[in-house]
Amino acid sequence: MAKIVVDPITRIEGHLRIELESEGGVILKDKAWSETTQFRGLETILQGRDPRDAWAFVGRICGVCTSVHAIASITAVENAIGSNVPTQAKNIRQIMLEAQEIQDHVIHFYHLHALDFVDPASAIEADPQAAVDFAKTIGSTWKGNTLERMTAVKDTVKALVESGQLSIFSGGYIGHPAYKLPPEANLMAVAHYLDALEFQRSMIRIVTTFGGKNPHPNFLVGGMACTIDPEHSESINQVQLDQVSKWIDETLEFVEGCYLPDALAIVGVYKEYFDIGASSPNFIATGLSGTAIGGNPKDAAIGENNFKPGVVYDMNLGGVEDFDADLVEEWATSAWYTYAGGDVGVKPLAGETVPTPAIVPRPPYAMSEEDAASGKKFLNESEQDKYTWCKAPRYNGKPVQVGPLARLIVGYARGHAEIKEIVDYALSTLGITAAQLNSTAGRALARCAESVISARELKNYTFPKFVAALQGGDIDVFDASKWDPETWAAQCSGYAFVEVARGNLSHWVNIENGKITNYQCVVPTTWLAGGRDAQGQIGPYEHSLAGDGKHPLVDPTKPVEVLRTIHSFDPCMSCAVHVLDADGVEVQAVVS
Ligand code: NI
Ligand code: CA
Repeated sequence: MAKIVVDPITRIEGHLRIELESEGGVILKDKAWSETTQFRGLETILQGRDPRDAWAFVGRICGVCTSVHAIASITAVENAIGSNVPTQAKNIRQIMLEAQEIQDHVIHFYHLHALDFVDPASAIEADPQAAVDFAKTIGSTWKGNTLERMTAVKDTVKALVESGQLSIFSGGYIGHPAYKLPPEANLMAVAHYLDALEFQRSMIRIVTTFGGKNPHPNFLVGGMACTIDPEHSESINQVQLDQVSKWIDETLEFVEGCYLPDALAIVGVYKEYFDIGASSPNFIATGLSGTAIGGNPKDAAIGENNFKPGVVYDMNLGGVEDFDADLVEEWATSAWYTYAGGDVGVKPLAGETVPTPAIVPRPPYAMSEEDAASGKKFLNESEQDKYTWCKAPRYNGKPVQVGPLARLIVGYARGHAEIKEIVDYALSTLGITAAQLNSTAGRALARCAESVISARELKNYTFPKFVAALQGGDIDVFDASKWDPETWAAQCSGYAFVEVARGNLSHWVNIENGKITNYQCVVPTTWLAGGRDAQGQIGPYEHSLAGDGKHPLVDPTKPVEVLRTIHSFDPCMSCAVHVLDADGVEVQAVVS
């Protein structure tokens, strides 16, 4: 048996450490620990503040997921105080959520996940014309697939490799035998990596137009902080609408013509990953990506193109159940928090964030068995079996997956036509079953399929709906009737569920005499990265690695298979444990 530590896991947001035990080329069943080593205290910082300001604080939970936290916050506060948000403000938020989600997925696929499958060093052996031809055979219609471009990219990568300074490609397992793409596919993928880096700016300009800036766009409880009026030059007018329309067209062109064929080709070559990385087979989703619901989703009105919030247990696509906010609880069994009531599940509106620093082990932690022999400790051997700052959320007592795959699974089970169409297309193209979607490759594929659905939705529905209403004279974006705290109940509480890039995000707020008394965020990465609960159930990251005792780990010194699986969730640790420990939880050297 070998004890393996991957710390930090790179190409994610924040710090994540994975400890696991392997033997004979596989990870042992139940022997994986997902460890968030970074404490953040934003929920605590919010106590005593004006709830109308909360969005600006929670937007800082993360440098990536800024606008999504802000929207979850204003929606939760509006639910508490009874704001009647104008339709156009909701339309703008939905445009922003969809655009941000697509940009996030594109960045994740090309810049955070692709290098687990693409070997840039192999690209310098490629014939540039063969790369152009390869792109054609996989159905890529991207305008960057030219001989000039592929030649230029090859020269750039060659110069990088020859200089010995790999720049953006450093730190990868370059040359690892687990890389299987032919050189021309690697060259094409590296070219698209660079194109996507350039291109993702267009997508986020959509968010900037309505939010004034990015990251950290401006928001407002009761509506939106921007003005919309085609007649006024200082408002969002026809000039901006034409620009946004063009960026949406380019976004759809990129995701359909470049991202989709690339993703299908890569998961097609690594098809064994449809049988690797299955995680907890329970899924929750409160609608398509971009859905924002104030209050309990079980009572929510369903948008025209949307599906009803739901839960799928045990991958049973024929048995979807309604989603009830009352069944969300968080456990601190394996986390460094203390609950007043002991080791119990706690509902977010009664949530507690009381860190217990006395029992948190101080780094350096053991990185190898040699370290352990010299007295350092592995995190999972810490006091009280606590090993992470991440709480463990459960739905109806069960660990669940959230995210693009969860949305596709629940939407499919609900019979959503566009989801069925694209999922069925992917299944038949790849020759896999729906059950195999619960896998490392399935999560990567789902993220891409969802980007296509969202880009089509944005172009054909969300943006036209907003423009038509605007042209019809609807320029109202703010409900002032509940702005003054004097209009609020002395005690009120509210919450909101928002479907964002990494999955289901909920914010929960209690207000007394106009001030926040308690604030809780249950974030997609918290759902996924949390550890064991009092029933001994492992969390979704842990399950994906150690659920069946079959996950491969060929060379424990180069755990590329672990990266492939963990990256398939698109981890955002900053979000998961919502100020870096001032005492200095230091970043460790990579791997042993
Ligand atoms: Ni985040
Ligand atoms: Ca939380």
